[in-house]
Amino acid sequence: MSLNLNGKAVLITGGAGFIGSNLALTIERRWPGARVVVFDRFQDGTCFGNGNPISLGSWQNLVDFRGEVLCGDINNARDLARLEDYSFDYILHQAAISDTRADNQMLVMQTNVNAFGDLLSLARRCGAQMIYASSAATYGASASPQRVGQEAPDNVYGYSKRAMDDLAARVREQAPDLKTVGLRYFNVYGPGEYFKGKTASMVLQLGLQILDGRPPRLFEGSDRIMRDFVNIDDVVEANLLAMETPHSGVYNVGFGQCRSFKDIADILQRELGTELPIDYFPNPYSGYQMHTQADNSLSERDLGYVPRVSLEEGIAAYVPDIRRIYQQFGYQG
Ligand SMILES: NC(=O)c1ccc[n+]([C@@H]2O[C@H](COP(=O)([O-])OP(=O)(O)OC[C@H]3O[C@@H](n4cnc5c(N)ncnc54)[C@H](O)[C@@H]3O)[C@@H](O)[C@H]2O)c1
Repeated sequence: MSLNLNGKAVLITGGAGFIGSNLALTIERRWPGARVVVFDRFQDGTCFGNGNPISLGSWQNLVDFRGEVLCGDINNARDLARLEDYSFDYILHQAAISDTRADNQMLVMQTNVNAFGDLLSLARRCGAQMIYASSAATYGASASPQRVGQEAPDNVYGYSKRAMDDLAARVREQAPDLKTVGLRYFNVYGPGEYFKGKTASMVLQLGLQILDGRPPRLFEGSDRIMRDFVNIDDVVEANLLAMETPHSGVYNVGFGQCRSFKDIADILQRELGTELPIDYFPNPYSGYQMHTQADNSLSERDLGYVPRVSLEEGIAAYVPDIRRIYQQFGYQG
């Protein structure tokens, strides 16, 4: 990789969250001469009707980060105006309502779409590259392997991410010099996701259940619910490759294989040395994605993205952190 961020200014929105904090820490470690600015709303105790917090960022994800941190809301013009004091070379836009079950349509659309429009304007003003988080939720129940162009969102979250992709394409038509890369992450897992609570990956949730001596809880038919699980290290790498590429567009970021939730429970039990029975219960959700698998061919061609971390390797490497989380926070149910 020829990317050199020393001397460059990088804004990471949502930098106190799972993926954003991993990006901030990696860039600071690899390029100590980079100016990295994290902008995040942080948690404020407010929740959606489904009981999940509205924002999931935590200072505890940033304890090892020594760059600049701004607390602000991307929906608030006064907070966004603070960013006018900087001249960013790159914007890594991760801030969003990331809860796929969020039920407040207005807030999801404002946060994920309107605010993205404002950040695209900021990118145009500073001549910054815009690398932003799209999502595999744009594909809904469309057939695997999912490719860009097959969008069929089946919740407001997936719809908002598709609207972001459409908006980026429209703005680029008016501003051909603006580079935008949308990364459609599939199911991401790894260190830094604890503060997502009930929206953290099943790797963490099942790991904590098993460490607590509880039978791993899975939906009935979980051996047939297949997802593309991608490790956080591959996701960070995809962002760095997106910063390097001359291309604009929308790209899948998955591992390229589908695995079942039962596979996750089995791998965890092997790693943790347990043989607990599975506790199956009915899936309460309609519109549940039953099969995702990224077609990464476009991402490989234009970004050079080749995922490296298999589910087995990713879980094995994650287990010490899951143990640490269990010791520190216990099992929250
Ligand atoms: N984790 C996944 O599996 C996954 C999959 C597909 C897409 N994504 C997308 O990737 C991005 C990062 O996801 P994540 O898993 O790190 O989620 P996360 O919830 O941990 O991170 C999102 C961050 O955005 C912040 N934020 C929310 N609303 C904000 C606002 N109004 N103003 C400022 N900050 C705000 C939150 O505090 C949080 O720190 C999101 O855009 C998400 O939609 C994630």
